[in-house]
Amino acid sequence: MPQTNIRRYLRHGMLPQLSVFETVARLESFTRASEVLHLSQPTISTQIKKLSETLDVPLFEQIGKKIYLTPAGECLNQSCHEIFRQLSKLEDDLANLRSLESGKLKLGVSTTGKYFVLRLIAKFIEKYPNAKIQVQAHNRQNLIHRLEDNDDDLYLFSNPPAEIELVKQALLENPMCVLARNDHPLANQKSIAFESLKSELFIMREPGSGTRIVAQEVFDQYGITPKVRIELSTNEAIKQAIIAGLGISILSKHTLGMNAHSQEIIELNVTGFPIMREWQFVYPVGKVLPPIAAAFLKFCQQDAAFICAKNEAPE
Ligand code: PGA
Repeated sequence: MPQTNIRRYLRHGMLPQLSVFETVARLESFTRASEVLHLSQPTISTQIKKLSETLDVPLFEQIGKKIYLTPAGECLNQSCHEIFRQLSKLEDDLANLRSLESGKLKLGVSTTGKYFVLRLIAKFIEKYPNAKIQVQAHNRQNLIHRLEDNDDDLYLFSNPPAEIELVKQALLENPMCVLARNDHPLANQKSIAFESLKSELFIMREPGSGTRIVAQEVFDQYGITPKVRIELSTNEAIKQAIIAGLGISILSKHTLGMNAHSQEIIELNVTGFPIMREWQFVYPVGKVLPPIAAAFLKFCQQDAAFICAKNEAPE
């Protein structure tokens, strides 16, 4: 909003002068205003005089012993009420933002992190029942875009971006496993060599997901080009595809937590697996965390391992 035509209102002392003016107008008396504001009567008169000079209009007129607002004074009085009402609303809004209980926590979580983050949230809400929480679940790449746009307070990654300066708080381990249907020929075999999976058909997460990055790293490490039967953009769809017999997949073990199908899906005993990654809450360096986000981080630091342990997939 251009401020060229309101320069006179931006002068030092304008708000206190408006407050004096509003009090005199309301009480219709310089003497009573001086009592209420604990200021001397000459100070009140000087403030009103300065205000009148700044605005270049007379504000009061005195007839006999009584003072009256001039038309300009009436106009200013109305605006004063609006200004003070707005300031009071601003103070309420800021008080809400300062307050832990009434703030809104905005979490960006990876599509895999959402499997256990809701447990954390449920426990957090037990402690802070008025907390409002918004969760945005996206794959790693889209979560990075949100982070770059400063859309959320905290972000849950397993593979946070290295190119952005971040404050990080480790949450818990993220075991990446080879998952198959329970009737897979290798289901009961121990210490399966990863190389022996090269003839298997794989179900892969989409490019841009953190899960895909980890899977690709393993294939690269063994110099294997996976036979990708199908590429799917959600862990849930991948689990359904495993059950449907479309192939096997490298996924976080957390995707099995609390899942009705988990008995139909098993973890193959592949040498070198699970590959241990780590869930981390991160936020950009320089971000000022709202009180509720700081409280959530602290809560996670103390209780995450315990709460999420209950979400482990059955052995
Ligand atoms: P994903 O996320 O859901 O994109 O696989 C895992 C991660 O945070 O890297």
